[in-house]
Amino acid sequence: MDFKGKRVLITGAAGFIGSNLTDALLEKGAEVIGIDNLFNGRVENLEEAMQNKNFQFHKGDIRDLNFLLDLFKDIDIVYHQAAFTSVPQSVKMPENCNNVNVNGVLNVLNAARRMNVDKVVYASSSSVYGDTPTLPKREDMPRIPISPYGVAKLACEAYMQVYYQVYGLKTISLRYFNVFGPRQRDSPYSGVIAIWLGNIIRNEDLVIFGDGTNSRDFTYIKDVILANLLATEHDAPGEILNIGAGSPINLTDLAKLMLKITKKETLGLIYSDPRPGDIIHSYADITKAKQLIKFEPQFNQEAGLKDYFKWYKNKYNVDLDIV
Ligand code: UD1
Repeated sequence: MDFKGKRVLITGAAGFIGSNLTDALLEKGAEVIGIDNLFNGRVENLEEAMQNKNFQFHKGDIRDLNFLLDLFKDIDIVYHQAAFTSVPQSVKMPENCNNVNVNGVLNVLNAARRMNVDKVVYASSSSVYGDTPTLPKREDMPRIPISPYGVAKLACEAYMQVYYQVYGLKTISLRYFNVFGPRQRDSPYSGVIAIWLGNIIRNEDLVIFGDGTNSRDFTYIKDVILANLLATEHDAPGEILNIGAGSPINLTDLAKLMLKITKKETLGLIYSDPRPGDIIHSYADITKAKQLIKFEPQFNQEAGLKDYFKWYKNKYNVDLDIV
């Protein structure tokens, strides 16, 4: 799709997913307005974008409606990526999670409606399914979240649908399944792959919460960016689509694969207590996304991990031997 002449706005533009999306849209010729409160996001992630004359950055918060109203003028598409992203942190502070995620979505939708934005593409989450037994997860299955984070994401999806049905604002929700890749932070509340890559670089053992049988459908960032571009190109208003690799792996196998790829098999695996709020298994059926937006993931987990590790090695000049 040609984005030349399009004005797009990305919330959470300095974050992991938002900054990758910013770069991709700039490369496609769009004019990009990035906003971020820099709570989780980092300006460093926008180093390249800042050099581009088609990029503007504004520091501010999605909880501030006036801030959004000013910036949403003449915007064609909004990609709403800003969020409170951690499941365990949502267990500790459910009100904060609700404020950022649910109230934030309402502000984004209201601003988009008032300023006549064409389309809102929303970053939802596989956490809405909870621990229902049937796998893989299909969009029409029951959604019974088991964390405050999952509840908030489910409410946000429902708002996306209602703003299409009631107000005719074109929205689409992409239910991401455990995204990983360049610029994901290595902090205690980050995704497991970024944490373990940090451990590997520092020659530390990897800590697994639970018995290692928990599984996730880890999805490479480049496939998530592809899904966002396809969701812009194809019209599927009011829809919710799973975006995953469609090939789950359990945590013990993931840890061993990461150690194998980096030739660090001498490092150990430490099993610790399960984390409250954690889903046991998560695995995406991506048939609907294939049908509606022609989504075909390009990276299996091993290919994604290698691409990520190579990026990391080049960027930070670390001593990492990648098979
Ligand atoms: C992740 C995302 C969430 C997103 C969801 C679905 C993060 C921080 N969370 O949640 O925003 O909505 O996917 O796309 O990116 N684990 C360990 N050791 C560790 C850390 C985690 O064993 O050091 C385990 C966890 O207990 C869990 C699994 O790894 O079983 C995945 O955890 P995590 O990477 O935090 O992701 P989710 O909670 O699934």
